[in-house]
Amino acid sequence: MLVLGIESSCDETAAAVLVDGRRILSSVVASQDDVHAPFGGVVPELASRRHLEIVVPVIERALGEAGVRAADLDGIAVTHGPGLVGSLLVGCTVAKSMAYVHGKPLVGVNHLEGHIYAAFLTDDPPEHPFLALVVSGGHTALYHARAPRDYALVGQTRDDAAGEAFDKVAKLLGLGFPGGPLIQRAAEAGDPRAIAFPPARMRDGARDFSFSGIKTAVSLHVKRHAPLSARDVADVAASFQAATVRMLVRRTVTASLDLGVKRVVLTGGVAANGPLRTALSAETAEHGIRLHIPPRSLCTDNAAMIAAAGTPRLLAGERADLALNAIPDLALAA
Ligand code: KG4
Ligand code: ZN
Repeated sequence: MLVLGIESSCDETAAAVLVDGRRILSSVVASQDDVHAPFGGVVPELASRRHLEIVVPVIERALGEAGVRAADLDGIAVTHGPGLVGSLLVGCTVAKSMAYVHGKPLVGVNHLEGHIYAAFLTDDPPEHPFLALVVSGGHTALYHARAPRDYALVGQTRDDAAGEAFDKVAKLLGLGFPGGPLIQRAAEAGDPRAIAFPPARMRDGARDFSFSGIKTAVSLHVKRHAPLSARDVADVAASFQAATVRMLVRRTVTASLDLGVKRVVLTGGVAANGPLRTALSAETAEHGIRLHIPPRSLCTDNAAMIAAAGTPRLLAGERADLALNAIPDLALAA
């Protein structure tokens, strides 16, 4: 089962060819960081324009590196939401065109399910049921994956996504874009206990996340102590990162124990964060919870995860027609 995956929901243009949804023959990811860095964040119009310019060469490269032709494919899987509408439309349109021209089965994939399926691209894929913590630039949510294609929402952020908080704090600290890796690097020289950022307390919905309080605390701290020395910047980065990691780890482990689902998947761009990977590994091990974390390159946006999520759907007979549309707020579960 040879499937081409196409991903263009945000600021990565990506294509990949997989065998049986498990073996990666090629995975090409063209980052747009250079386009958006001068603006300190993703500019949607520039993102869709860049997707349009490079999506065909990216797909051609993925096919070339896999050594296959479009005619050899058994199916095409494309992200149709959630994400930026203009960006999603580029991937959807190319995927529909290829499916039409080559007469191939097509399936639309939810980007968040794609992130979860990154965990199936390892030597140790998770068995259902499991909890999936999806932490990215646009989303922070905990899903109960009860069975293939059957998800329940356990908790989600009430305000910012974790990655968004990393990006905003990096901007406040003048570190650049994208913020996650830059905060992680700056934090290495800092003291995570230097500043006590308050953990968000929620009376109801204890499984939800919130990052705006920490972000506001950082903003006030930066204003009060300006200009910050390099040492201060490192301390703020380390303290912010520690507070964010604490919130993600606590909520996830508590939900796992409460629900009695002792298998967890950590995925999404923020899952590339070293201290988060280490802290969740330690905490889950302590409670006898099995943890699955994809390699860093599969945590951030890529198309291999889209082909991986699309393959079981194609095998189950799911088909999209030429009416497949971009859905910016597509939900994975209620
Ligand atoms: O999943 P992703 O590639 O795109 C979305 O679907 O949003 O996630 C991107 C997010 C960005 O906010 C980026 O700052 C964050 O993931 N990120 C990280 C790290 N690497 C990427 N956050 C913390 N630490 C990292 N090492
Ligand atoms: Zn993503």
